[in-house]
Parts: sequence; structure tokens; C-alpha cells
Amino acid sequence: MAKKISLTRYLVEQQRIAGHIPPELRLLLEVVARACKSISHAVNKGALGEAMGSAGSENVQGEIQKKLDIIANEVLIEANEWGGHLAAMASEEMDSIHLVPNRYPQGEYLLLFDPLDGSSNIDVNVSIGTIFSVLKKPDGAEGVEEKDFLQPGSKQVAAGYCVYGPQATLVLTVGDGVAMFTLDREQGSFVLTEENLQIPEDTQEFAINMSNMRHWDTPVKRYIDECLQGKDGPRGKDFNMRWVASMVADVHRILTRGGVFLYPWDKREPEKAGKLRLMYEANPMSWLIEQAGGAATNGRQRILDIQPGKLHERVSVILGSKNEVERATSYHGKP
Ligand code: AHG
Ligand code: MN
Ligand code: MN
Repeated sequence: MAKKISLTRYLVEQQRIAGHIPPELRLLLEVVARACKSISHAVNKGALGEAMGSAGSENVQGEIQKKLDIIANEVLIEANEWGGHLAAMASEEMDSIHLVPNRYPQGEYLLLFDPLDGSSNIDVNVSIGTIFSVLKKPDGAEGVEEKDFLQPGSKQVAAGYCVYGPQATLVLTVGDGVAMFTLDREQGSFVLTEENLQIPEDTQEFAINMSNMRHWDTPVKRYIDECLQGKDGPRGKDFNMRWVASMVADVHRILTRGGVFLYPWDKREPEKAGKLRLMYEANPMSWLIEQAGGAATNGRQRILDIQPGKLHERVSVILGSKNEVERATSYHGKP
């Protein structure tokens, strides 16, 4: 029987053999994975633990926080504060950046996360997840400020997510393709279950919240309308639709079997560039998708090239199978 490769061994080999990651980044990723295990445990307990229901508070984006949003945020902070690998963290659930307290050594990495993605699915027992992105503190910067985080996604040094579904699966890139690890609950460790994931360039499956159709802009309406016309329309083939309402689960499906995911700008809140957040949702997912041979744009520009102006910046997202993303993007015209 083939030897099982644990996440620990995979990361050691990435460091030692491939020379892709320094030891501090390896430690950081180990710690994030450990936090995901702990969040997965809380998710599994459901109503038997403290995982369900609203926390009765709002985050900086004006969204009602669920208890699990707050638990997951705390787990990630506590796990990452003391290891000496980080300078600061930023999260969907915190207004401003969280500095590593003075009593601990400061490292050179910046960690961003959406501690719990798909909050509306917590109470209904549908897949949710944690998304994370790692940047390096700019060279020579004394201390850390919010502006140190404002780097385009192309500067990420690691990105990934853990989806808490029928299995807990951690998906990771350090810039050397995408690897997938499944949580072995008996061993308590993530085991490598797929390497070098590749997304098919073509697909017949799209993911979009159709209930917002009347608010979309013309290019998105055109793209979806053509898919809906199926075999008899300009695309000459039938399309299927999926929408989990947890980006992490929709992206996981696309990494597994292809597809295209759209959360476009719409007329409900025209001043917002989109619903999803650039730095801890769109950037890590876009890098994973690109590393697996897919593409990710905001309709006009590659997401990884966007220079963020603020920590909680929003963005319009089209990602997944390359040819579909290119088609939908071409309908938007020049940047
Ligand atoms: P979060 O739970 O972190 O706020 O993110 C939810 C996001 C994303 O995961 C998902 O694709 C989208 O919101 C769902 O939006 P709709 O409620 O419009 O379906
Ligand atoms: Mn989210
Ligand atoms: Mn969230």
C-alpha cells in the first residue's frame, strides 16, 4: 500500500527538497491547519456545542455575526499569536489589523483570513469553510500598519482554504501547484489526497445567485442568458447550475471538476465593487484557481493584479474554467 503523506511531511519536503518555503512559513501553515482542525471540531459538534445561532453582534461590513464566525476568528488568532512567525493578522471579523502582542516575538509574515465562509449555511448543516492568505511584510518596514497589508494578490506567498463538508479538506498552494489534504480524524492529521489539481478549461456548469439577475449589469446578463439558452442558443450546449452560497464549497467543486463562479457587481449597492472581499476571499481563491490552470478576473482585470486601497475592499468575481472566464470577461470590454 502506498505510504500516506501527511501535511507535515508535504510541507517539510516543500521546504527541504523543493526549497519553496522557508521554515517560518512551514510553521505558519502547520499552525493554520491546526486551527482548521479545531474549527472543524466545533463545526461537527453543531447544536451539541456552541456552534449554532447568532452572536447578536455586527462586523465591520455590517453583517450579523454568527457564534461560529467569532469562535473561528478566536481560534485562528490564539493559534497564530505566539509562534513567532507572524507580524500581524487581518480578518473579515475584525475592523482593523491585529498586531502580535509585544510579549511574543514578531515574525515577517502577514496572515489574512475569512474565519468562517458561508455563515448563512452554519445553522442548516451545509458545507462552510475557512479561507486564508499569507503575505510578507514589506522589507525594511518598522512595526506593522494596515498599509503593509495592501499588496496585490500576486504577492501572496501561500493561500488556501479548509472546507468543512462531509469531509474536512484543506487545499493549499505555495506557488507550486495545488495540493489537497483530507482530515483523517482517527490520526488527527491532514493526509495528502491529491496533488497538482487541474481545472478543465471548458465546463457546462455555472454558479451564480440567480435571484439577483434583475440587478446585474449587461455583460453578466448576456453571459448567463447565453448559457441558459442551452443547445439551441449561441453556446450550442446545455449548462447546469449549482449555488451553495458558501464560496469555499463552490470553489472546491470547481477545483474538483471544473465550472465557473460569478459574484458580480450589481445595482443593489452600486457604490460597492461587489459582495466578496478582495484580500481574504477573492485573492486566495484566485491564486488557487490560477495555480490549477483556471482564471480569475473582476470582469475587466486579473484579480491578482488589483492594488487594494483598503483592508476590507470588495470586488466583483468571475473565476474557474479558463475558457468560460475569458468569455465572460471579454463581454465586459476593455478595462
Ligand atoms: P461570509 O459568510 O464569509 O460572509 O461569505 C458569504 C459569501 C460567499 O461565501 C458566498 O458565495 C456568498 O456570500 C453568498 O451570497 P448570497 O447570500 O448572495 O447567496
Ligand atoms: Mn466569506
Ligand atoms: Mn466569513
